[in-house]
Amino acid sequence: MALREIVRFGEDVLRKKCREVTNFDEKLGILLDDMTETLLSADGVGLAAPQVGLLRRAVVIDIRDGKGTIELVNPVIIEQSGIQSGNEGCLSAPGEWCEVERPMKVKVKAFDRHGNEFVVKGEGLLARAICHECDHLEGILFTDRVKQVIPKRVEGIK
Ligand code: CO
Repeated sequence: MALREIVRFGEDVLRKKCREVTNFDEKLGILLDDMTETLLSADGVGLAAPQVGLLRRAVVIDIRDGKGTIELVNPVIIEQSGIQSGNEGCLSAPGEWCEVERPMKVKVKAFDRHGNEFVVKGEGLLARAICHECDHLEGILFTDRVKQVIPKRVEGIK
């Protein structure tokens, strides 16, 4: 496994729509392994392929609930319900936090690294992470969905 460089906001690759994964090969496995290592090392909860510069529909999510890392290839949100509002950040925008509304629950259909289809349900933080990462695959950033930007304190201004 190897750490990959995380692309920052402002790079074109974060604004493009990703292509479906069609080859469930060794290269995909290496990408997912590297993305997981990069995610855990950066102390994040989710990372999408465009964040390491690749326009592929692949994401890794780890909400640190002891259940391990979830790999989603070609994910599609098939059901969503409820609403939650909370502060959200992104490994591509260190230090930036915004209040974003997301569904409280989602159901997502995806493939694993071997090409087997599965369905996973997420609630709360997991639902938020799934939505945030799926957005990345469409070139959508969390700042596009901001309800309220949390103002930075400016010294000297009252
Ligand atoms: Co992000």
